[in-house]
Amino acid sequence: MEYSIGPGKTAVYFRGSLADIFESYQNVLFVFDENTRKLFPDISSSVSVVLTPGENEKNWNSVNKIIEKAVKSGLARDSLFVGVGGGVVCDLTGAAASLYMRGSRLVLIPTTLLAMADAALGGKTGFDYQGYKNIVGTFYPAETLYILPEVLLSLPEREYRSGLAEIIKHGFLKDRKILNILERKKGLILKRDAAVIKDLVTRSLEVKGWFVEQDFKEKNIRRYLNLGHTFGHALETVTGFSTVSHGEAVAWGMVMALKTGIMLQETDESWAKEAEGFIKMYGYDTDYHKNISIDELLAAIQHDKKKKKGEVRFVLQRGQGDNFITPVDHDILRAALSA
Ligand SMILES: NC(=O)c1ccc[n+]([C@@H]2O[C@H](COP(=O)([O-])OP(=O)(O)OC[C@H]3O[C@@H](n4cnc5c(N)ncnc54)[C@H](O)[C@@H]3O)[C@@H](O)[C@H]2O)c1
Ligand SMILES: [Zn+2]
Repeated sequence: MEYSIGPGKTAVYFRGSLADIFESYQNVLFVFDENTRKLFPDISSSVSVVLTPGENEKNWNSVNKIIEKAVKSGLARDSLFVGVGGGVVCDLTGAAASLYMRGSRLVLIPTTLLAMADAALGGKTGFDYQGYKNIVGTFYPAETLYILPEVLLSLPEREYRSGLAEIIKHGFLKDRKILNILERKKGLILKRDAAVIKDLVTRSLEVKGWFVEQDFKEKNIRRYLNLGHTFGHALETVTGFSTVSHGEAVAWGMVMALKTGIMLQETDESWAKEAEGFIKMYGYDTDYHKNISIDELLAAIQHDKKKKKGEVRFVLQRGQGDNFITPVDHDILRAALSA
């Protein structure tokens, strides 16, 4: 598969191993975190950076470490930066590669389901700064993604389910076949069967690629990929970014988006019911709002950084694949969160 992502092209390959790929490369800088380093003991490179895992390390200091290593190792502009990890390592490596010598070669090896099905494709790089998530970054697509579904076997359950929520989102947004697979192959999906993962990730990337190819800089339809995210971010904020995972928040957020659409008399009720069924089928909690202060959720929504001209715009759905973006009145939001 190959996608036109802004100024570049991103090729995607599924692989069983990487042994042959990098032997021929000169001047490679690998970026891992401590967990992903263990996944590839046979990658032997003296030029590597191993970061502490987690969102806490998604900061300028980590980008600085990568660039410092590149400078110390005398990497030239045509050298290759290879990020091996989840969304955090991919976003950091992309940021460093885009800055080093005004842009070096970038390859990503996503190792979480979220990074495989979502984060590694699309060219957004970045890091958190002074408490703001992803507030500094660049648009810089990787030239190649190598995906090895087998590495997911060691991924903690919570992380795996975070990725699944984004895959469900892609099914809602544009690909009913994803929903059919989720329905028919739940057992294999939960066992992390490599073939079914390859199928789901391929379809997921097709959906993401479709939106990004048409709107690299997120000026219009790429925003649809934020389905469930405005509500989801609010839930993550209110619960302090630790009790509820990103995927759990997005899954709940999609249900809230459907409820909001019903309040606006836009969303087809039978679709809303069907969609909620998929979210429940994979065990996500759809009732967080029943145990959390709605005022706090509403306040967090107002702070959403996607605020435009003083109003927050929501991605909603009329039905499967029928998406739209609209501001929503406070009263409607309150009613949706109280339903
Ligand atoms: N650039 C984009 O378009 C985009 C899109 C979505 C999300 N993101 C970003 O992605 C980040 C979240 O990514 P994530 O969910 O992959 O988190 P992550 O990178 O923090 O990885 C989650 C955890 O899993 C570990 N891990 C990774 N692969 C493993 C494996 N195969 N086996 C065992 N452990 C493994 C990591 O070390 C980490 O502890 C966020 O910072 C978010 O902003 C970016
Ligand atoms: Zn997300």
